Amino acid sequence: MTIYPKNPIEVVNINLCSLNGKIGRTRSESTPTRHEQGITCDEDFALMERIVSESDAVFIGNRSMGSEKGAFSVAHMRKNKNLPPDPFWVIFTQSGQVYPDNHFWDQNHIPKIIFKCTDFNLSSKPQLSVESKVIKENEFPFLEGNINGLYLYLSQRGAKKAALFGGGQLNGLFWQHNLVDKLYLTISPVLIGGVGAPELIESSIPYLKQLSIEECRFSNGFVYLTLQSEIKVKK
Ligand SMILES: NC(=O)c1ccc[n+]([C@@H]2O[C@H](COP(=O)([O-])OP(=O)(O)OC[C@H]3O[C@@H](n4cnc5c(N)ncnc54)[C@H](OP(=O)(O)O)[C@@H]3O)[C@@H](O)[C@H]2O)c1
Repeated sequence: MTIYPKNPIEVVNINLCSLNGKIGRTRSESTPTRHEQGITCDEDFALMERIVSESDAVFIGNRSMGSEKGAFSVAHMRKNKNLPPDPFWVIFTQSGQVYPDNHFWDQNHIPKIIFKCTDFNLSSKPQLSVESKVIKENEFPFLEGNINGLYLYLSQRGAKKAALFGGGQLNGLFWQHNLVDKLYLTISPVLIGGVGAPELIESSIPYLKQLSIEECRFSNGFVYLTLQSEIKVKK
């Protein structure tokens, strides 16, 4: 049995995929477009909102955020909960080049962090440099360092739980490095073909993860799974 270090921030991965494990038809498809095509549904969006309303941070790949029209607020669901109105939205990038035209940068009520991650290994000592980046005349925190550096930064700001939205490349990195505690997976009754269609997990390194089903629910043609990741942790 392999023992891994304990994840200082609980990470729950939330995604919707087709019957053949695709999370979209192209690499730049927004959630509203998937909704129009019947790939996703209102109930799945409500689930996503609930998970985000219970989280202190949202982790999302630069490309996925570039495909969306922006973030969504959960402030109305967090009233009277002694929490900041919205969680931090953390954009993971390797290039450091975010999509400046995205409406996201105009959403002043959403706290944002751009994070250039150099290392996803939980055993590494925290490392982080904090600078700022100007986008559309506003300054945003631009962090560069390893995942433990980010976790420390977020923990110092009261964060305990993060919702990992993907896409497939970011999911792949988190699963590869045993950084996911739970998976909320909605299976849509569609098959998606096409060479460029992104997968739920994309990784150049082969790996196998064991998960156990905590809940399985069927509603209006969609299957809603809650799965526990079987990682054994060192306290
Ligand atoms: N169905 C769903 O639930 C769901 C959920 C999310 C997304 N999606 C869809 O999935 C598609 C995008 O998925 P994707 O797999 O192509 O991309 P992705 O995982 O969203 O983002 C990949 C980005 O992550 C950054 N990245 C890669 N390696 C990194 C590293 N080592 N450290 C830090 N950042 C790193 C890169 O940013 P840079 O390019 O800046 O280097 C890369 O562009 C879109 O169509 C989106 O709508 C679907």
